[in-house]
Amino acid sequence: MAINPPIDATTTQAWKDLQKHFEDLQREGIDLRTWFNEDSQRTAKLSFDAGDLHFDLSKNLIKPETLPLLANLAKSVNLEERLKAMYSGVHINNTEDRAVLHTALRRPVEDEGKYIVDGQDTVKDVRETLDRIYAFADKVRSGEWKGVSGKKIETVVNIGIGGSDLGPNMAYQALKPYADAGISARYISNIDPNDLAEKTKGLDPETTLFIIVSKTFSTLETLTNAREAKAWLLEELQAQGAIDGSEEQSKDAIERHFVAVSTALDKVEAFGIDPRNAFGFWNWVGGRYSVDSAVGTSLAIVFGPARFEEFLHGFHEIDEYFANTPIEQNVVALLGLINVWYVNFFGAHSHAVLPYDQYLNRFPAYLQQLTMESNGKSVRWDGTPVTTQTGEIYWGEPGTNGQHAFYQLIHQGTRLIPADFIAFANTPNPVKDGDQDVHELFLANYFAQTKALAFGKTADEVREEGTPEAIVPARVFTGNRPTTSILGDALTPFALGELIALYEHITFVEGTVWGLDSYDQWGVELGKVLAKQITPAISSDDQALAKQDQSTQSLINFYRAHR
Ligand code: F6P
Repeated sequence: MAINPPIDATTTQAWKDLQKHFEDLQREGIDLRTWFNEDSQRTAKLSFDAGDLHFDLSKNLIKPETLPLLANLAKSVNLEERLKAMYSGVHINNTEDRAVLHTALRRPVEDEGKYIVDGQDTVKDVRETLDRIYAFADKVRSGEWKGVSGKKIETVVNIGIGGSDLGPNMAYQALKPYADAGISARYISNIDPNDLAEKTKGLDPETTLFIIVSKTFSTLETLTNAREAKAWLLEELQAQGAIDGSEEQSKDAIERHFVAVSTALDKVEAFGIDPRNAFGFWNWVGGRYSVDSAVGTSLAIVFGPARFEEFLHGFHEIDEYFANTPIEQNVVALLGLINVWYVNFFGAHSHAVLPYDQYLNRFPAYLQQLTMESNGKSVRWDGTPVTTQTGEIYWGEPGTNGQHAFYQLIHQGTRLIPADFIAFANTPNPVKDGDQDVHELFLANYFAQTKALAFGKTADEVREEGTPEAIVPARVFTGNRPTTSILGDALTPFALGELIALYEHITFVEGTVWGLDSYDQWGVELGKVLAKQITPAISSDDQALAKQDQSTQSLINFYRAHR
């Protein structure tokens, strides 16, 4: 089915209405203190629940009457139609002629037969693959699956990069308290040999299982690291006397210690991994949208199939909420639209994600690929140039660490940086410092920061503290620094699935308003091609070196002189 050309949002009446609204707000004064004082129901009007997550949008630079205007913008670019097209398998990734069906990865078994796309029963195939992964995970967890010398697996090492690393790595860190089978995970991604060297340190080859994860099974970093890992394993096993180095025993060792995840199962076999030990996914799953596919095999092993299912249920909960809630009350859609509001009307360049949960320490890095590889585009899905800024720079660190690093700029800098504050009411590590519950001390910071950012501190308030006049300006906080507070009960597999799906759909909403194909990533190709061309020039090929531009030649010459 052909997709409709993008609508230039800036030409719509809804955009003009938002522009007028923005100018009206500026004229009357954008001031959260005033808005909170004038409307005792402001927080109630701007609070939402989706799944078991709670959202307070009231410290954003919007008024309740902004919401219908934002919803009109979504309607004017046919958000609902595009959402239906995505969920039903239309090839909305038109530059790669692919469906975008990560939502099928978490559909329940009852949906088998309902999502037939390009002749494939997507949900049936998903569930069949999950069954194979779960059976394998159970074997590894129980010790039925043994290494070549008969030992139980204690460490899984995921080798992948981008979407084949960031998602499972982030989720592994996030869900560590749920690891219950005595198995830990490590993640190797960088082609820099330092990564593999450090991550294999102290590993016992006899109890290590490598999972090679690559959607295309052609990514330079992953295949290079996979070959290195193979060499490491065989060498170490032999050194420990676990194998004798014969071809037969080496083959057996690879079979017991290497599995693969890919959409290109033929390439997996060519690489030397038994196809029976390979788990597939499909080209309608983008790499950065794949943590809940076979790409999450390391998670199914460490946390178990039941937890992985809970994770999938969390995604599905938000998928359903997003698809079935009217836009005006749909907090997932509204958050995407509010981001557009900041980027295109306030001129914001970046967006901070500040989890108040140490287990979410890789969440901002994960979101960087999700959002920036998706919406870092300058042309729309029909090839025409965009007419607005697109794609914020996502960044962040867990609180409270960030407070002692970059929050200064968010509080008092010249830039407007919308920020998402994420926290959970319960911790798996309750601790007391004397009578003080440390989690409450932690959460006090979570609550205090958004309050300080919203309401600031006036010069008079600073003076009242007896501050010398000369220092007063330095101690004023202007306030009106926008934040969204997201609160959950606990960081469970379900809640993590909800959070990921939330940001997947926020990314989709923004991409739709901007007219982008959020599911291709042509911008990463050129560097890969040039790296291949440059490789011979680096070591010794002077002819290849002479073909480089003067800066590249000069840099390589420095390298050659210093290696
Ligand atoms: O280079 C970008 C990219 O294609 C990402 O989109 C993807 O997640 C990553 O590389 C890894 O690709 P693969 O899973 O095919 O190895």
